[in-house]
Amino acid sequence: MANVLIRPDWYIPERLVTPEHVYRNRRTFLRQMGLTGAGLFTAAPALLSARAAEAASKAIASRFPAKRNPDFNPKLRISNEDPATSYNNFYEFSTSKDRVKRLVGNFKTQPWPLEIYGLCEKPLKVDLADLLEEFPQEERVYRFRCVEAWSMVVPWTGFVLADLLKKVQPKSEAKFVRFETAGRPEEMPGYNRLLAQGYPLPYNEGLRLDEAMHPLTLVCTGMYGKPLPKQNGAPVRIIVPWKYGYKSIKSIVKIELVAKQPSTLWEALQPTEYPFESNVEPNVPHPRWSQATEREVDTGDRIPTLPYNGYAEQVAKLYKKG
Ligand code: MTE
Repeated sequence: MANVLIRPDWYIPERLVTPEHVYRNRRTFLRQMGLTGAGLFTAAPALLSARAAEAASKAIASRFPAKRNPDFNPKLRISNEDPATSYNNFYEFSTSKDRVKRLVGNFKTQPWPLEIYGLCEKPLKVDLADLLEEFPQEERVYRFRCVEAWSMVVPWTGFVLADLLKKVQPKSEAKFVRFETAGRPEEMPGYNRLLAQGYPLPYNEGLRLDEAMHPLTLVCTGMYGKPLPKQNGAPVRIIVPWKYGYKSIKSIVKIELVAKQPSTLWEALQPTEYPFESNVEPNVPHPRWSQATEREVDTGDRIPTLPYNGYAEQVAKLYKKG
């Protein structure tokens, strides 16, 4: 009998794991492994996880740092990196802000299939690393204001959401965009407790289409010149700088174009405290506290809150009545 070597399912022949530098880019590398397009979604999980994750995270890391765009808040003092990346709201891990960072270790952020679908002509399923081949990133310094009245100033890296939405060609019936975070109880230690408390998970948020298409709204993959830390929403989140932070949904896997205003997690839980629109408005107090001032996370200083978080000139026109 011939000497037959039995290989496990996940075995990758040596010729297919040619060192990465031999390939011009990650797409080529994954194609060699049959891991692009439909293959990416159907291949054996073990095969995907090791080699593809490594290739994807290298490909993403190679996009950093991106060039800063000087048009966005060039004079603001940037918050210190450590508090900005250790004081987090990411309820699927923990409701204690200082514990999230310690609990994200098992969260797998590579590879990261992203789906853009719904009322559009060209729905898309793509891995984030491939998407970044197409959409060049830039760095923008934005103010970031939580509804809980703390704030920071962050250099985010990303690209304009409108560019991605234009690619899928929204149909005329599309009036809103719904976003959804990955829902993975096995990797997110706080998930099942939230579910038991009645949170409508996976975390979901929404924007009007004109808000989503606004040139300030970012698909964000990094901060402080590096890929996003897991606790800040790796590998991809949305940043909407004139709205309270809960609209800036983390670790998104789905973007859906819809006709009607979607239900959103916080509004479903407490509509009077966390309404769908949620623009930063210092003159409209939260039912339980004032929104007139905010506490800087790194200095602890209290500073006045600005209408639309300082972006009134760019966005107030979206909300003019009549
Ligand atoms: N996204 C998900 N999936 N889960 C969350 O709990 N919290 C939101 C938002 N996005 C949240 C989320 C809230 S309330 C805020 S203020 C910001 O993320 C906090 O972002 P940061 O931790 O990067 O400062």
